[in-house]
Amino acid sequence: MSAALTGTPVFDFNQWTARQLGRVEMALSSWVTADSPADLGHPMRYAVLDGGKRLRPLLVLAAAETGSPANPTDTLEAATRAACAVELIHAYSLVHDDMPCMDNDVLRRGKPTVHVQFGEAQALLAGDALQALAFELLVPEDGAVPPMLAAQLCRQLAQAAGVHGMAGGQAIDLASVGLQLTQPQLEHMHSLKTGALLQASVLMGAACGGVTASGLVHLSAYGQHLGLAFQVVDDILDVVADTQTLGKTAGKDAEHEKPTFVSLMGLPAAQSYAAALLDQARAALTASGLPRTHALHALADLVGGRTH
Ligand code: IPE
Ligand code: IPE
Ligand code: MG
Ligand code: MG
Ligand code: MG
Repeated sequence: MSAALTGTPVFDFNQWTARQLGRVEMALSSWVTADSPADLGHPMRYAVLDGGKRLRPLLVLAAAETGSPANPTDTLEAATRAACAVELIHAYSLVHDDMPCMDNDVLRRGKPTVHVQFGEAQALLAGDALQALAFELLVPEDGAVPPMLAAQLCRQLAQAAGVHGMAGGQAIDLASVGLQLTQPQLEHMHSLKTGALLQASVLMGAACGGVTASGLVHLSAYGQHLGLAFQVVDDILDVVADTQTLGKTAGKDAEHEKPTFVSLMGLPAAQSYAAALLDQARAALTASGLPRTHALHALADLVGGRTH
């Protein structure tokens, strides 16, 4: 029976995304200010604003909607802060990832990279300051995020960004140049360097929304599969997409001898693997029995179909 006949409201993902992105862009622009010593705010704003798909903030906000919170207004405040905090960590990771000591990239989000535009020292410091700001956002002075929730969000974000998350994964990435990794080794590297922050986005949103423990188990599985799929697709796009579409230099993984899913198993098998991971992510959502999972389902489709 059609939605019109049953009276069930149709979920409009484009409308939902436009609403969430409006809120996130406004919040990021107001929280990352130009007012700063020695103009450090300029590279920070350059790194964060005017670009990026904002997948991590959308995951936070979508996961928050699957909960049944006592106070929806508090949830929205906490989830907006968590969404921006995750994006700031992501933006800082990109600034450092592009530096000459790491991937040595000159193009990001269709613009010169931060170190090209502002110099290496400003890029390094902008990354440091974005990381600190992420945690500051989670603990507002006015207590707008309940202290227990703020502490939990800080812990989740720190774990995902740290030595057993993104930073550790990046260390493995750099130590693996020129090596042929096994599939479990590559999965481990990708799960840390990229998957951890994506999974944390889902779990932080769930914490803001007050999702129950049984729901969390399934959302955690969703985040894990989606997070790994995202980096497999990133490896694929590095091979199949062009620089203009990507907004970053195409073909650099092979050039830098990075082990990737494409170099491990070839393009068709990597594409099938990404699709299988996304099916597992969708299955976890269905198994959760949680309400309002439409946006999370649509975000899995987005990861599979993305062109940049
Ligand atoms: C790029 O992430 C870096 C990886 C973790 C693979 P995104 O593809 O989400 O980059 P933006 O934020 O949209 O620029
Ligand atoms: C970056 O992975 C992961 C981060 C933690 C930033 P990549 O090095 O593959 O990301 P791109 O391709 O430069 O965006
Ligand atoms: Mg890298
Ligand atoms: Mg890179
Ligand atoms: Mg890449």
